Amino acid sequence: MSQSIQPPRVLNIEDLRRIAKRRLPRVVFDYIDGGAEAELTLRANCRAFEAVTFRPRCAVATPACDLRTTVLGTPLSMPLILAPVGSSRLIYPRGEEAAARAAGAAGIGYTLSTLSGCCLEDVAAASKAPVWYQLYLLGGRDCALSAIERARVAGFLALVVTIDTPVAGMRERDLRNRVKELLSRKLGMMLPFVSQFLTKPRWLAAFLADGGLMKFPNIVVPGEGPMLYADVTTALEQSMVSWQDLRWIREAWSGPIVIKGVHTGDDGRRAVDAGADALVVSNHGGRQLDGVAPTLRVLPEVLAAVGDRIEVLLDGGIRRGSDIAKALCLGARAVLAGRAYAYGLGAAGGAGVARAIEVLRTDLIRTLKLLGCASTAKLDESYIDIPADWRSIGRG
Ligand code: GLV
Repeated sequence: MSQSIQPPRVLNIEDLRRIAKRRLPRVVFDYIDGGAEAELTLRANCRAFEAVTFRPRCAVATPACDLRTTVLGTPLSMPLILAPVGSSRLIYPRGEEAAARAAGAAGIGYTLSTLSGCCLEDVAAASKAPVWYQLYLLGGRDCALSAIERARVAGFLALVVTIDTPVAGMRERDLRNRVKELLSRKLGMMLPFVSQFLTKPRWLAAFLADGGLMKFPNIVVPGEGPMLYADVTTALEQSMVSWQDLRWIREAWSGPIVIKGVHTGDDGRRAVDAGADALVVSNHGGRQLDGVAPTLRVLPEVLAAVGDRIEVLLDGGIRRGSDIAKALCLGARAVLAGRAYAYGLGAAGGAGVARAIEVLRTDLIRTLKLLGCASTAKLDESYIDIPADWRSIGRG
């Protein structure tokens, strides 16, 4: 299915979100768009960016702005990495490959979720830029070991270990939309979705042509084969990652490890002690513990604890290039964005992801010029004002 996208109609990520909402069945759109419980943290992540204001230096010429950076020693064309988004293949045919290809063409990183419908080898081959593999311990350590080995052979540069999922957050939209029943693969359970799907015939045709509901080809349970979608929620609840597991993962993977899901300075220090090379200040886009502070707000605490020992990245709430600039001003080395590109994937596949990246890139350049700052490397706290009470949040 090839779709075109009209750039003038898509000025920002919200435009892509609107198109995705029109094109996707509600059950799929809500899966991307929703968060846990009352979605307080989901909204707070975005509002935190609104609370930070810029202090521009006017009448400063910045003819060419330099967005380049390195993360874990790898060059990126801008400080952006696509975050792991599970089940991207529900959003668009071979969605993980399409997103990785768009990231690679733009020279930015892509992180493949364990919960991918595409083989990790195909995803690595699709991108010309660095790819990272996000690891859940679904299916147990032997299953994880075989994924780790496959990821190494396929050329993934870093392993991203997510530590904020001891259970799945209560995604109320998913429960109301009966996602679990949809994924059960039992015909009777799927009947209530037929009318919803028939209103999105293009999505339905593409989804069926792509093979329909799938297994997870990178979670290969010894003696059983690839895990079924229907089994994933239960398996996730039996597969939390502990600090002991992290020590084991550190031994099993010799490349860089990124710990994702750090909310406090204390956990930042634990991540350093566990041998991580980078961490992501992340609350899973507000999809796990509702009511945790927005990531931008806890970033200073984490940086104060470990910023001189480890690369500190941030995700959550990135919808504009100015959000990236604010995170960098506060000290993040780079950001990860999930929904921003998932909306693009839903709107127009790889072309939509490319558009999302381009929106963020042109926003960032414009923001730098308006700030009178020649490069993202020069962004610091002198370019922003932060609310007075933000300093007091951390205890470590
Ligand atoms: C998976 O990690 C999700 O947030 O849906």
